[in-house]
Amino acid sequence: MARSSSSPSGKRWWRSPTGRVVAAAATVAATAAVLVTAPGADAAASTLGAAAAQSGRYFGTAIAAGKLSNSAYTTIAAREFNMVTPENEMKPDATEPNQNQFNFSSGDQIYNWAVSHGAQVRGHTLAWHAQQPGWMQNMGGSSLRSAMINHIQKVMAHYQGKLAYWDVVNEAFNEDGSRRSSNLQSTGNDWIEVAFKTARAADSSTKLCYNDYNIDNWNYGKTQGVYNMVRDFKSRGVPIDCVGLQAHFTGGSSVPSSLQTTISSFAALGVDVALTEVDVTNASTSQYAALTQACMNVARCVGITVWGVRDSDSWRSGESPLLFDGNGNKKSAYNSVLNVLNSGGGTTTTPTTTPTGTTTPTTPTTTPGGGSCTASLSAGQSWSDRYNLNVSVSGSSSWTVTMTVPSPARISATWNINATWPSSQVLVATPNSNGNNWGVTIQHNGNRNWPSVGCSTS
Ligand code: G3I
Repeated sequence: MARSSSSPSGKRWWRSPTGRVVAAAATVAATAAVLVTAPGADAAASTLGAAAAQSGRYFGTAIAAGKLSNSAYTTIAAREFNMVTPENEMKPDATEPNQNQFNFSSGDQIYNWAVSHGAQVRGHTLAWHAQQPGWMQNMGGSSLRSAMINHIQKVMAHYQGKLAYWDVVNEAFNEDGSRRSSNLQSTGNDWIEVAFKTARAADSSTKLCYNDYNIDNWNYGKTQGVYNMVRDFKSRGVPIDCVGLQAHFTGGSSVPSSLQTTISSFAALGVDVALTEVDVTNASTSQYAALTQACMNVARCVGITVWGVRDSDSWRSGESPLLFDGNGNKKSAYNSVLNVLNSGGGTTTTPTTTPTGTTTPTTPTTTPGGGSCTASLSAGQSWSDRYNLNVSVSGSSSWTVTMTVPSPARISATWNINATWPSSQVLVATPNSNGNNWGVTIQHNGNRNWPSVGCSTS
């Protein structure tokens, strides 16, 4: 665990778990005992994404391609969120409007916008009873089974290696915990596991999720139905990595007191959990704070996504359920969420081990003009599946840091930088208005070696 002490100025300083500071240049390496500030130790983050990243989580939103030309919308979205879910653009009716003829234009538009603004993307969704193209709605039996498999293969091939998560199957259960009847269900009770097996074979680099609404209350039939399916899949080796609780607390529902129990119970099965489509009637500050705290209290609750940017963007705009009003102003619920994110994880968050891998120091790049910079890494908090690294850049305030993580590790969140992603293993970071101290969360996926970094000035 990090230890803190106070300097004479009263500023709090943190030592990394090993006391180790890894430097990218010999001159800095010589000061390896230097103490470094952990993100958030002395200043609360000022955006949702940065605040969530301090605990290795993301904070996302649903994005509609048709709104990307609205600068009021994109300004908020780019500033606040580091995970993006296409609201409709990666659904089957959008991506396969005619059988075996695919259209990725709107999905790609969102993907490209997201990664160019430092956000990752959650694919939504591959197999669903709703928003099927017309040709699919009329199918059943083995022809629909084949069409579903082909759809998953082709869409995932297009986005291969690019998406952090995919909602493979969406909303397949009834409220009582039985399977929802649909044309997909009529192809056989094994359609969900076939979908997940097909998805794993199509792209092993993305996390495969089951996503549903009304599975937030632990004492509810639907929650138990989904839980039993995930438990069964894990026991039989059917590939599933995550469960998304849509968390629509609108339309008459509200945050249940058992939400944290639900999250931790799914997590205990060995899957990541996320709140994937959050909205709350009239944006109750106490309910937004409670759902955020429930996620923060469970180590494998990896992030929260709200279902839209401003109230005017919501599918239930009449309930004003989001964190920004129609004029783009932060609502009080925004502050309640930000405060919980900044307060850090709660009682059941279980961190713990320091990354044990080796590091790959790099040499600062000297530009023809004589400028140089150095990027130094130090350990932040860590969990069983991921760890934070703090990065401190010295020598210039106009720098570009390239970070390469060793496969199959992936960077899942960043804070205090502008980020672009030349590939899923490579991050290019430049300063935003937050200075020279920034950080990343790395999902190690079994490879705990630290990334290599290079720094250049411009
Ligand atoms: O784009 C057309 C527009 O050209 C046309 O004039 C208009 C007329 O109705 O429709 C527009 O399409 C609408 C589309 O949203 C884009 O606004 C569809 O009718 C409408 O059905 C569609 O609703 C989406 C809904 O899923 C469909 O099931 C919502 O935007 C979207 O927020 C919602 O998202 C779902 C998640 O995927 C799954 N969980 C529940 C969540 C909320 O329903």
